[in-house]
Amino acid sequence: MAHRIGIMGGDGIGPEVVAEGLKVIDALGVDYERIDYDLGGERYLRDGTVLTDEIIEEWRGIDALYAGAVGTPDVPPGLIERGLLLRMRFELDLYINYRPFVAPGHDFVVIRENTEGTYAGEGGFLRKGTSHEVATQGSVNTRHGVERCVRYAFELAMQRNKHCTLVHKTNVLTFAGDLWERTFNEVASEYPEVETAYNHVDAACIYFVDRPERYDVIVTDNLFGDILTDLGGAISGGIGLAPTANLNPNGMSMFEPVHGSAPDIVGTGKANPVAAILSGAMMLDHLGETEAADRIRAACADPNTLTGSTSEIGDQVVARL
Ligand code: IPM
Ligand code: MN
Repeated sequence: MAHRIGIMGGDGIGPEVVAEGLKVIDALGVDYERIDYDLGGERYLRDGTVLTDEIIEEWRGIDALYAGAVGTPDVPPGLIERGLLLRMRFELDLYINYRPFVAPGHDFVVIRENTEGTYAGEGGFLRKGTSHEVATQGSVNTRHGVERCVRYAFELAMQRNKHCTLVHKTNVLTFAGDLWERTFNEVASEYPEVETAYNHVDAACIYFVDRPERYDVIVTDNLFGDILTDLGGAISGGIGLAPTANLNPNGMSMFEPVHGSAPDIVGTGKANPVAAILSGAMMLDHLGETEAADRIRAACADPNTLTGSTSEIGDQVVARL
């Protein structure tokens, strides 16, 4: 049966890189029904729509969503990010943010919790605009949310090199860190074959640069994961190569490159589509098309040798399938 795939190119270079991803998927003969969603900053500027309840409901019934990037300079910063991307993550319970990296000679995965932490929007203002203004921004960590994320990381470690590292800041974040650490240790006891480690997030930043080979699977909270995965992109060939899966392991999931809409290079052919193409491979994994996914990864194995314009790189990947 054809997979039902929602396509959301978005803004800036988003549609350009998604087109290359679809070119590669089409070349593999994957059978899918394409459902287009015109969302993002441009759409918002046209008619004020960010995301509707109807679209969310429709998404519950499709198999996957393949996205480019959203964001336009003329829209207030954060409006589309929160109203579209974060709302989608929360309402569709895309609780795993899966980001694989290939540092020179070594690959590892960051599993970022994707529905809680400081992203949950807890907090507010008191006496806003006065000299006694107070702003709080809490971090929401539930046992349920942390445990399902940690468990996912251990399951993944079992399929990989059986090593799992918790990254947090337990020395300072004594409440959230304590919940994460206890949960991590309890789940670890169910996976005696998996070797475990713990790093504070600041130290992890050094290890990412100096010794990434110490990592196999990393599990961390939403904000630390956001920051660490940009660093992960930077140490593994650049953000133009870094793919993401936003997973609800039991349902509709969303696949997108880590990078943004890069409005400055729109239409120049300078956008590297490899991150989007590899996000497409992750989508095919999720759809059970693992052989096609492996062929894409093999074709992108040497990304430095994929050169030229956005569409030329897409053509080269197709030629290497
Ligand atoms: C990411 C992005 C998003 C995030 C933004 C656009 C809200 O940076 O997917 O990493 O912070 O999660
Ligand atoms: Mn980010």
